[in-house]
Amino acid sequence: MTAPPAHACSATAIDLAGRRITSFGGCNYLGLAQHPGVVRAAADAMARYGLSTTASRETTGNTRVHAALEAAVTAFCGHEAGLLVPDGYTANIAAMQALARVGVRAAVLDERAHASLRDAAQAAGMRVSTFTHLDAADAHAALRACDGPAVLATDSVFSADGALAPSAALLESLRPGDHLLLDDCHGLAVLGREGRGTPDHLGLRSDRLVVTVTLAKGLGCAGGLVMGPRNLVDTATRHATAYICTTPCSPALAAAALESLRALTGEPDRLARLRANTAALRGRLAGAFGVDRDHPVPIIAFTAGTPDDMMAMHTATLSAGMLAPLVSYPGGPAPVYFRLSVSSEHTTDDIDRLAELLCEHAPDTLNETGTAR
Ligand SMILES: Cc1ncc(COP(=O)(O)O)c(C=O)c1O
Repeated sequence: MTAPPAHACSATAIDLAGRRITSFGGCNYLGLAQHPGVVRAAADAMARYGLSTTASRETTGNTRVHAALEAAVTAFCGHEAGLLVPDGYTANIAAMQALARVGVRAAVLDERAHASLRDAAQAAGMRVSTFTHLDAADAHAALRACDGPAVLATDSVFSADGALAPSAALLESLRPGDHLLLDDCHGLAVLGREGRGTPDHLGLRSDRLVVTVTLAKGLGCAGGLVMGPRNLVDTATRHATAYICTTPCSPALAAAALESLRALTGEPDRLARLRANTAALRGRLAGAFGVDRDHPVPIIAFTAGTPDDMMAMHTATLSAGMLAPLVSYPGGPAPVYFRLSVSSEHTTDDIDRLAELLCEHAPDTLNETGTAR
């Protein structure tokens, strides 16, 4: 479903045809897309560099802000090396192109992996197979069926329902010569110490771990990175056409993302509020909808009765000024489901009102709760 076009947005509200709606959509987990310092950094860089580098970083389109951003995100996430590309989708393509270049011919994907991982493996000419969602034993069996080096690839935090991949077990299941590619687009700025991401949250370190991120969600800007062992990142830099043949994100957005990273570490209250709000909304929805109150991810997905029941809940909630997105995005718990996204900028009142509205308009017949992420 394509959402109606918004006229304006704040961290937690959208203007829809003149009506101000409190939104639990998007992935603006820390409100950094509207942070005054971040917006100012974009404006300053725009005055200095203009809107676009108009060329690939490999030719004449590299700037100091792109290079500084690349180094800062890579160091923050604790990787040996990193490469900044235009966005998270392209990061997956660049990662798979580099892996193919070092001899990886097969990709084994979680069956619900983000479409960009599948597209990337196919574009890199790999044989693609899948393993059962979140099942590390099945991933291991699928790897054993591969001839030669393979890459296991999965979202570390699934965008549709917030599930966490069994990343540590996946890493352990690798054979010599295999790699694990984690798409941490929803882990960066959310999980781990100061928001360093899922590998930090789980204490994962390995020279066979490759991580991709977007800077468009938790950091609220644009851009993507491939991070991991230096040899692989160097290979991506020299050979990945997804890097060599693309114009990077606007210098304005690169400067903004650098400032976002500073705000993430310099204003730790934001992450603390995100975590408190996540726990609060999960707690409010646990009883009625079977939501797992202890899951640390600010994406909350659940079903409530039939699609018609949910549409009625969605409409009633929207009429009361709150957007609880009802989506059919692939990889969710059902063909149609609620996917709520919590922000550090939601107030206690926002959370209470949303929970009350959803509970009030839930079908009377609700006897089976939705998924419990
Ligand atoms: C899990 C996941 N990977 C990759 C992407 C792509 O990131 P970007 O929007 O920066 O291209 C997204 C965003 O939609 C995502 O949710």
